[in-house]
Amino acid sequence: MASCFQGCVFLLAMVVLALSTPCSHALRIVKPKTRTSVFVSPKFVLEPGSVADKNYYDVNFPRGHIAIKSFNGEVIDEEGNPIPLHETYLHHWVVGRYYGRTGFVEPEEARFDDFQRSDFAFVRNSGVCQGDTNGQYFGLGSETRRTDTQVPDPFGIEVGNPAVVPAGYEERWLLNVHAIDTRGAENGLGCTECRCDLYNVSTDSRGQPLRPGYKGGLRCCYDGTQCRVKQGFNGVKRNLYLRYTVKWVDWSDSIIPVKIYIFDVTDKMNRSAGLAIEHECRVEYDVEESCSATSDECVDSRSSVVTMPTGGYVIYGVAHQHTGGIRSTLYGEDGRVLCSSIPIYGKGKEAGDEAGYIVGMSTCYPQPGSIKINDGETLTLVSNYSSSQTHTGVMDLFYILVADYLPKSSVLSLDSTL
Ligand SMILES: *[C@@H]1O[C@H](CO)[C@@H](O)[C@H](O)[C@H]1NC(C)=O
Ligand SMILES: *[C@@H]1O[C@H](CO)[C@@H](O)[C@H](O)[C@H]1NC(C)=O
Ligand SMILES: *[C@@H]1O[C@H](CO)[C@@H](O)[C@H](O)[C@H]1NC(C)=O
Repeated sequence: MASCFQGCVFLLAMVVLALSTPCSHALRIVKPKTRTSVFVSPKFVLEPGSVADKNYYDVNFPRGHIAIKSFNGEVIDEEGNPIPLHETYLHHWVVGRYYGRTGFVEPEEARFDDFQRSDFAFVRNSGVCQGDTNGQYFGLGSETRRTDTQVPDPFGIEVGNPAVVPAGYEERWLLNVHAIDTRGAENGLGCTECRCDLYNVSTDSRGQPLRPGYKGGLRCCYDGTQCRVKQGFNGVKRNLYLRYTVKWVDWSDSIIPVKIYIFDVTDKMNRSAGLAIEHECRVEYDVEESCSATSDECVDSRSSVVTMPTGGYVIYGVAHQHTGGIRSTLYGEDGRVLCSSIPIYGKGKEAGDEAGYIVGMSTCYPQPGSIKINDGETLTLVSNYSSSQTHTGVMDLFYILVADYLPKSSVLSLDSTL
């Protein structure tokens, strides 16, 4: 208590000092006020073995010309209690930005690729997958509770600039939540990995037959499917919600905008298409059980090679992996590590620390200026999973935030170290 009091007085003294210094330089370090908005999604209903894969349009979001400083979420029940992953597995939540025609009301639960072009324009991130694939602004899965998403000062993700919204449209946000109720599951991991046999599914959500050899993944655990539950298991139906927290500041010229890139280890980039490089991101893949003969290592290692259209300074990096994930690393053309992200596995029962689940991913916050990607540089993404058992429908996405330029002060300090 005493030390907090002293700290507060000290802070106050600093502020008074800063405000009373008649030099504009001192004023510039006064940070814009960070605001926090907490929202709750529409409800989804789950019972043992069931799946919700919901699309919500025009969801609550901070309005106006702002810079997003962080975005995170978690599944809660009606009383606001966090729900642990061993009851409701959060496969993912994804937040996308779009322009909706003024007056257009999105039909509930529709897929946005069914909308008319004149009603709906998805605003994807800066790259690099094909079409709208991996085009989201934010997205995490089971790791949501313990993954740092803070964008450091003076950087921010610029949204809501009225000057860029086409006339007759409004900027809106969509939320996709995919959750699986594994209470009483015969094979909990199998349900979370969307194994088709456990869901007794042979067609995808559009009624198309699954391709031969498809053993598991999102095509087998779409909205309304049912994973096998132990006979006689009784569990109540319950109403659940995604509670999401957005931190943001009002836009100002002192904020440096960052671009969002998402790389995908399944990307089969086709460079023979020339300048119009074609990407083929498949998002999911399977890990076969295999252990190396020469050592007792059981590691499945995959990589993809992607070209960064325009470079910049890496401000933040994080990967998304599923259970079994060991590490994901993004390398530059010369082999330098741009960022390496490691899963954190839970050890107990509580929400945020569930044993056997990835409850967080480590992140990278390089000193701004220390990690630079050149225009047209070829990057390599390496994803390692444990292959001591088979996994279906795993992922390896790598998010980075990239700034085109640095604040003047850090350019100066960089110069002075040369
Ligand atoms: C699996 O699906 C088939 C056809 O859709 C159905 O006949 C069968 O009863 C289902 N099996 C189980 C265990 O639900
Ligand atoms: C790569 O792109 C070229 C040019 O567009 C095309 O002819 C070729 O079939 C593509 N290759 C693959 C494997 O898709
Ligand atoms: C990934 O696994 C391979 C094969 O075991 C190993 O050589 C490599 O060092 C690993 N990379 C990372 C980033 O863990």
